[in-house]
Amino acid sequence: MKFEDGESEAGVFGPGVFETLWESLLPVGRDAGTGGYRRYSWTEAEVGCRAWFARNATELGLGTDYDGNGNLWAWWGRPGPGAIATGSHLDSVPDGGAFDGPLGVVSAFAAIAQLREQGFRPARPIAVAAFTEEEGARFGVACLGSRLLTGAVDPDTARELRDSDGVSLAEAMQAAGRDPALLGPDEDLLASLDAYVELHIEQGRALAGLDAAVGIAEGIWPHGRWRLEFTGRADHAGTTRLADRHDPMLPYATMVLAAREAATRHGALATVSKVTAEPGGANGVSSAVRAWLDARAPDEATLGLLVDEVGAAARAAAEQHGVGLGIRRESVTPLVSFDPGLRGRLSAVLGADTPVLPTGAGHDAGVLAARLPTAMLFVRNPTGVSHSPAEFADAADCQAGVAALAAVLASLASD
Ligand code: GLV
Ligand code: MN
Ligand code: MN
Repeated sequence: MKFEDGESEAGVFGPGVFETLWESLLPVGRDAGTGGYRRYSWTEAEVGCRAWFARNATELGLGTDYDGNGNLWAWWGRPGPGAIATGSHLDSVPDGGAFDGPLGVVSAFAAIAQLREQGFRPARPIAVAAFTEEEGARFGVACLGSRLLTGAVDPDTARELRDSDGVSLAEAMQAAGRDPALLGPDEDLLASLDAYVELHIEQGRALAGLDAAVGIAEGIWPHGRWRLEFTGRADHAGTTRLADRHDPMLPYATMVLAAREAATRHGALATVSKVTAEPGGANGVSSAVRAWLDARAPDEATLGLLVDEVGAAARAAAEQHGVGLGIRRESVTPLVSFDPGLRGRLSAVLGADTPVLPTGAGHDAGVLAARLPTAMLFVRNPTGVSHSPAEFADAADCQAGVAALAAVLASLASD
C-alpha cells in the first residue's frame, strides 16, 4: 500500500457536491449505443473510474491508498485502528446501469463533504472503499476484491482466472501497472476496520411499495454461479441424421428449462443469461456450449437442492444425447444476516420506522460480513430495474441516501 496523505480541508466542492461528482462519473465507460455501462475490471473504462476516484478523493482532501487486491481506499484521517468504512464498487455488468455500485461511492464522498461542511470532526478514521470486480463480469468470480481481501479466494487461483479472451487477472493487473504478486488477504487492513456500511440502489421495488426513500438491509439470500460446459461433436446441419448427432445445444436447452422449473417449485430464482456456442456457425451442429447458471434461494438447503436438481437434469440430458458435461462452481456466497447490533444502530439513527428488507443481490458487504460488522442502506428504485441501462433513482432519493449515510457515519465515528 502506498498511502498519499490528504489535505485537512475539502477542496473545490460546494453544496452541489453529489451532483458534481455524479455528473463527472456518468460519461466514463458508457456505451453510446445502448446507454449502458461496460466498466469491466482493469479495462480502460474501469481504470478511468479509478482515476475519477483518486482525483475526487484528493480534491475532497482525503488521503488515497490501494490495497494489494486493487481495491481503492480514500481516508478521512490517517488509516488506522477503529476505522469506519463505507463505499461500494465502480465496475459494472455488461450494459449495467449508472447506479449499481457508483451510487455508494459517490454518496460516500458526498456524505463526507456534507459532514465537513457541518464542522463534524470524526473521532475515528473514515474510509471510502471501491472494491474491484464486484460483478465478476470479467473474471467470473463475484466480489473478487473483497473475497481476496478476506481470504475467501485463493490468490494463486485468482491470478489464473481468465476473461473471455483468455487474458488472466495477473496479466490484466500487470497491464494496468499493478503487481499481482500482492494479491491475498490483508489482515492488518481488516483489523483496522470496525464496521463497513455500504449504500446501494435497491434492486427491487420494496421501498417503492412502502413509500420510503431509504431502507436498511436485513440480509442477503445465499447465491452463486456455476459454469456448465456441454461438449458434443461439430457436424453438418444439412447432412447429419438427427439420430447420429451429439448436439450440446439440446441438453443445454433442457438445463435452462429445468432451472426455471426448479426455481418456480422451490420459491427461488434461477437465471441462465450468459451462453456461448462453438464454433458458432448457423449451418452446423455445435461442438460445445458453455452456459452460466445463476441461482439464489431464501436458504442454503434450498439453494443446494435447486442446483443439484438442475445438475441432475443436465447430466441426464447430456447422457441421452451422447454429450459430455463438466460443471464448475465459480462463486458462492452463503446466507448473510447483517450484524444485528449495527443494524440496530442504523435504525436508531434513521428512525425505528425505517424499512428493513432482505435482498437476493450480492454485495461486498455480504463478503465482509464474515470478518467484521457490516450493514447496508438501500435507496429507493421506483421501477426496481437493475443490471440494465434503465436502472434509475430520483435525485431527491439520492440526496436522502447521502443524508442517511452522513448521519450513520457521524454516529459511528463519534465514539
Ligand atoms: C450483483 O449485483 C449480483 O447480485 O450478482
Ligand atoms: Mn450488480
Ligand atoms: Mn452492486
